Amino acid sequence: MSTVKFYRPEHQVPLEMHKVRIVQKLFLLPVEERQKKMAEAGNNTFLLHNKDIYIDMLTDSGVNAMSDNQQAAMFQADDAYAGSETYYRLKRAIKETMGLNDMLPAHQGRACENILAEAFCRPGDLVPMNFHFTTTKAHITRCGADVVELVAAKGLDANNLDPFKGDFDIPRLKQFIKDHREQIQWLRIETGTNLIGGQPISAHNMHEVAKICHEEGIICVMDASLLQDNLHFIKTREDGYKDKSIKEIMFELCADMDIVYFSARKLGFARGGCICSNNEKLMLRMKEYVPLYEGFLTYGGMEVRSMEAIAVGLYETLDEEYINQGPLFIEHLVNELHEYGVPVVRPAGGLGVHLNASEFFPDMPHGQYPAGALGAAMYIAGGIRGMERGTISEQRERDGSERYAALELLRLAVPRRVFTLSQLEYVADRVKWVWDNRKLIGGLRFVEEPAVLRFFFGRLEPVSDWQDKLVEKFRADFGESL
Ligand code: F0G
Repeated sequence: MSTVKFYRPEHQVPLEMHKVRIVQKLFLLPVEERQKKMAEAGNNTFLLHNKDIYIDMLTDSGVNAMSDNQQAAMFQADDAYAGSETYYRLKRAIKETMGLNDMLPAHQGRACENILAEAFCRPGDLVPMNFHFTTTKAHITRCGADVVELVAAKGLDANNLDPFKGDFDIPRLKQFIKDHREQIQWLRIETGTNLIGGQPISAHNMHEVAKICHEEGIICVMDASLLQDNLHFIKTREDGYKDKSIKEIMFELCADMDIVYFSARKLGFARGGCICSNNEKLMLRMKEYVPLYEGFLTYGGMEVRSMEAIAVGLYETLDEEYINQGPLFIEHLVNELHEYGVPVVRPAGGLGVHLNASEFFPDMPHGQYPAGALGAAMYIAGGIRGMERGTISEQRERDGSERYAALELLRLAVPRRVFTLSQLEYVADRVKWVWDNRKLIGGLRFVEEPAVLRFFFGRLEPVSDWQDKLVEKFRADFGESL
């Protein structure tokens, strides 16, 4: 994206500094079909078939558009069970883009989390973090430890306009360590925070947290899956960073960490996962799990072609004109929805646009899953697939009681370089329609509820005939239109 100024300021829009040379045909089913497909999918957007979706905003994971240079690099992948040249190229890319010497490969981000949890979690341990991510928490709790969230209060207020709502609450962190030091082996910094609206964490806060960890002898781990957007926000929002290059910021942040891991489905515009560090002792503790769970040490479950794509993607991550595309498109959509009065998490963050379902349905009980209901409504209204990031995405407490999410959000992810601005305008239009018709929308209840990561395959049904009413209203307002 460039900062090219438009002659007519009222026409100013984010401007791409790339062009699209491969396209995929999309289909939009009639609204009655969409209602049927939603029912067949158990009102769970994960269970829809991609062919039935017009705009897939489920995630940015593994669905970002690759560059010509990434595709070209995939052709020179070196297929070998052990010692592949591709592995050494990826390792070099990590050294040159992050300043980290060693790397353990894994098939994706959660596989890195599995290894971290196995290596550094004892039963009864506590793992402090600004905010949990679903797969991170599942692995930590599986190993008998617990996650403790220490995000600053501003992070849980969808309307607080602080630029860095992913920051840790430092006084709480200090107190927590004082009270529980024996139970803490490692701490995780999520850059930026996924489940609370893609909100970034400041470099200043990260440095403070790292300093505390180093003083206390706690292993400081960065989950860099969403670091790409966070780098852009540090450069554009944080005092003292405007004139630093993305590479300088990246090096500065990584230098302060004991371990950096990431999902390369996000960071690096490809597919895979990496655990990186300059600390040989820590790497040794994790190393044996790679051949056990993932594959040999030089591929770790990744396909060599993907590893080549990650290497090039990491270099591209240092290019501000590449990495600002996501945040600028998201900001465009957030501003448009906010001006209409639609409750969205602000300021605009990374990853996607987050609709605040609690404000869409102030009277709907938490237990009827407002964000899930909004997700079903958005698909019916526009063939748009979002992801529930609310109570359904939580896991029940150990005693089986429901754990209500701090924020009840429907995430509309914006995969990088995939959708055009007119497609985002269509999304904005259908969100506004859903907002204006929110009184027609009711809740959901589980009919099948898996015990682990229930949001992936759980099935739900509407608590009333609200979906029929929504379809009727759609026909009344849009006539024959899709
Ligand atoms: N950490 C963060 C912050 C993530 O957002 C994700 C994935 C992971 C770890 C796990 O990585 O998917 O490669 O195993 N987030 C995806 C999402 C699933 O849609 O937000 P993974």
